[in-house]
Amino acid sequence: MTRQGWTANSPLESERFAWLDTISVPVQKSWHALFGANKGTMYAKNVLNGVPWRHRVHPAIIIWPLGAWTTAALLDTLDGVTSRNGTSQYRASADASVAFGLVGAVPTALAGWADWVDQYGHQRRVGMAHALTNITAIALYAASMGLRMPGMERRRTARVLAGLGYAIVGAGGVLGGELVYNLGVNIPHVLYPKAPVKWTDVLASEELPVGEPVVVDVERVPVMLLRHEGNIYAAESWCPHAGGPLNEGKFEGCIVECPWHQSRFDLRDGHPLQGPAATLLRMFEAREESGRISVKPSYEAEEWPPAPAPPAERPALAPQ
Ligand code: FES
Repeated sequence: MTRQGWTANSPLESERFAWLDTISVPVQKSWHALFGANKGTMYAKNVLNGVPWRHRVHPAIIIWPLGAWTTAALLDTLDGVTSRNGTSQYRASADASVAFGLVGAVPTALAGWADWVDQYGHQRRVGMAHALTNITAIALYAASMGLRMPGMERRRTARVLAGLGYAIVGAGGVLGGELVYNLGVNIPHVLYPKAPVKWTDVLASEELPVGEPVVVDVERVPVMLLRHEGNIYAAESWCPHAGGPLNEGKFEGCIVECPWHQSRFDLRDGHPLQGPAATLLRMFEAREESGRISVKPSYEAEEWPPAPAPPAERPALAPQ
């Protein structure tokens, strides 16, 4: 049996972080109750989701706190360098930027919660980690703001706290990228089919010659198999960059190059070796027994919940 190594793009997909789910479930229920409380809160959620503009609000509005805090980081640095005699011309602007970012963090966070409330599985878990990271950053900025106030002023500590907050906002951004690019949050699940978490018999041994990739369909997921030096390697044949057909790419041993934009991957563990793809291939374990080959997802698998049953009768459309 061929067993691939580390194949999750984020450590958060590992069961070690299952504790995040125990927080997520009650928090999500509370947001559901809040957003669904009455027509006004449901309308507010629509606005936060971006329904009136037909565009998500959260990724657009993030520029408000992020821009303000980037400005604050620059002004704090200039303040630190030029304020040896006690004050500087940059101080008031730095403080205003921190405060402006804190104000902007409120609608940004609300828009994020409004998007997160309808997620589940790894998306919900990584979304919770993203939220906790950003809450930590906001708390640091709030503490920094407090230490800039007249009477409580501790300028150096305030600058350090703001710097830490800025770094943590960056970590939150990494998790936000993970949600969008790797987990396909708010992208129709039909575009991200998942193979069933079980062994699936796919091929007779003689149908997989040495060095020639073969693609099999595992419940709508195309899985590419390659026999090389006595091992069978198996991975989704969609390139994680933009879905190029890897089985039509160039092969050098167990290295494959995508035919669309030339990303290269090592089929032994799915790691990208050359961009533009920057994420792992979704790998499968493969086993060969009694002349048959079977595969099973080797990533920390999760399955979408079953689709809800369609209504018995279609509701009548409103008159145009
Ligand atoms: S689709 Fe494979 S590199 Fe772009």
